[in-house]
Amino acid sequence: MNDVLKVATLGGDGTGPEVVGEAVKVLKEVAKLENIKLELTDFDICGERYLKNGGIIITDDEVEQLRQFSSILLGAVGHVDVKPGILEKGLLLRLRFEFDQYINLRPVKLLPGVATPLRNKGPEDLDFVVVRENTEDMYAGIGGFLKKGTPDEVATQTAIYTRKGCERCVRWAFEYARRRNNPKGKKVTLVAKTNVLTFGHDLWMRTFEEVGAEYPDVQKEYHHVDACCIYMVDCPENYDVIVTTNMFGDIITDLAGILQGGLGVAAGANLCPDAGGTSMFEPIGGTAPKFTGLNQINPIASISSAAMLLEHEGYQTAADRIMKSVQLVTGTKMKSQAAGQMGYSTTEIGDLVCENL
Ligand code: IPM
Ligand code: MN
Repeated sequence: MNDVLKVATLGGDGTGPEVVGEAVKVLKEVAKLENIKLELTDFDICGERYLKNGGIIITDDEVEQLRQFSSILLGAVGHVDVKPGILEKGLLLRLRFEFDQYINLRPVKLLPGVATPLRNKGPEDLDFVVVRENTEDMYAGIGGFLKKGTPDEVATQTAIYTRKGCERCVRWAFEYARRRNNPKGKKVTLVAKTNVLTFGHDLWMRTFEEVGAEYPDVQKEYHHVDACCIYMVDCPENYDVIVTTNMFGDIITDLAGILQGGLGVAAGANLCPDAGGTSMFEPIGGTAPKFTGLNQINPIASISSAAMLLEHEGYQTAADRIMKSVQLVTGTKMKSQAAGQMGYSTTEIGDLVCENL
């Protein structure tokens, strides 16, 4: 915990700036109530600027400026007029890699009043977290083309896994299970595909077993990723902490996201847990171009990401205050979590969360 909490904000594109606006509103209010000295610096880095500036996504200087912050609050990245992959790789993935944010933490919690597509499941059944490795796997960008554009074309996209990368992620998951201290029992489930990926996921399995042996108080379990998709729908109450690879983590957290009520509520954090690291907090949902500028998008995920930021920075009471207020607002005020159907506007939801802090 520092004297002054310095946060960089990066709204990005589409509805990103709108949801970050509400998260900032709530951060300011809770900072007042908890006597936290909060300093915000906004960065105008987005697809819109990329299109105007002739292809500059983010400058090296901006990366260095951002590195001075321990926390970044991010909205959403992506623009309808920019080819898929450019902004994702050039901004989001670049920041994750530059700052070595090796943990992607995605809580899966059904908040009160939020509808889940799962029949007969309630908030007590859906409460786990996914710890997704965030710097390796097929995301490392290793690969290439041979004879591109010809009938003999070959494309490779290599998944890389390092012992160091697996170990720091698996260890963090076990430590997190201890911190979560689930009253139903602490458990870490490794989700991978050891029956097919017999090299890379063998490394994951061996690392999991070796590191897991240091945590006798935490139950260990292994699920293949395809089976995990069944269990997550059929018996989500089975899970406490899931640890998984980057690509599988990407996919299963979208499934988990809809189970917890959709992208309007799903929050996430890209963490560099090392001393002096820069972490980044973002709602899982995208830019929602259809809703841009309409004051109709759901800011709950972004506000919850701000709570994750506070928790990461050591302001647990402030984080709890936000999440309690969020639960009150979803549980007793909002009609739906879908954009345009909440019964309130984006800014009204932000106000409601502030009023109930
Ligand atoms: C996510 C997103 C990103 C990912 C994309 C936008 C690169 O889907 O954060 O889950 O694949 O990690
Ligand atoms: Mn994703």
